[in-house]
Amino acid sequence: MKPVTPYKHSQKSKHEQIEVMFNNIAPKYDLLNGLLSFGIDKKWRKTAVSMLSSERPKHILDIATGTADFAISCMKLRPTKIIGIDISAKMLAIGREKLRKLDLENHIQLMQGNSENLPFSDNHFDAVTVAFGVRNFENLQNGLAEIRRVLKPGGSLIVLEFSKPKKFPVKQFYAFYSNTVLPLAGKIISRDKAAYTYLPDSIKAFPAGYAFLKELEKAQFTDTIFRPLTFGITTVYKAKK
Ligand SMILES: C[S@@+](CC[C@H](N)C(=O)[O-])C[C@H]1O[C@@H](n2cnc3c(N)ncnc32)[C@H](O)[C@@H]1O
Repeated sequence: MKPVTPYKHSQKSKHEQIEVMFNNIAPKYDLLNGLLSFGIDKKWRKTAVSMLSSERPKHILDIATGTADFAISCMKLRPTKIIGIDISAKMLAIGREKLRKLDLENHIQLMQGNSENLPFSDNHFDAVTVAFGVRNFENLQNGLAEIRRVLKPGGSLIVLEFSKPKKFPVKQFYAFYSNTVLPLAGKIISRDKAAYTYLPDSIKAFPAGYAFLKELEKAQFTDTIFRPLTFGITTVYKAKK
């Protein structure tokens, strides 16, 4: 099946298009995130991070780290080191500025790279996190296999991703909001209309809930669980190597 991509007429691969898209929207990404989620995104990240608290991971990899919000939330776990990786240089530049202001540059290191070809040795991290990133992978199974490769045996993966509410009336409200309000607000503020039509399109195409657990199990993860948040607008998943 052809992957859902932002720029329908582009000849570029999905990850090249995603890189262009996030470089385009980077200056407005944090603003739009907060506005379009009514600020609930912070709570989602907090809940996802709390699912690692009993394990006290020391060495964490945050994939698709973007402007580093999830990596910063992971500081709550008091790890010795967090590495954030992302394909978009412009998202990372905003993240670096944030780390400088928060004086976190010695704790969180940001680097540019593709999640489907991670520049780390096998069995390296105690935990890997991906917030709103797996939906953008060019090949989901390749991305999951790479994550599993760099995780230590017994290490945990946390994935936070959008999903679709199933119950009336949230389902109907969410469909209207994501198909009309979101692309319009995204277009006006970010000036990249494609980015905010790609968002609902990619959410529709993403295998959420039990279907994502199946993907995790296919990639040989174990102990897979998921927890829908805010009426199922997002879902947090946990799995072990
Ligand atoms: C929606 S943002 C999420 C950023 C951050 N995790 C957060 O919670 O706000 C998705 C990020 O994934 C990055 N991304 C998408 N595909 C990627 C890939 N194949 N490898 C690395 N980063 C990727 C994008 O550049 C973008 O910064």
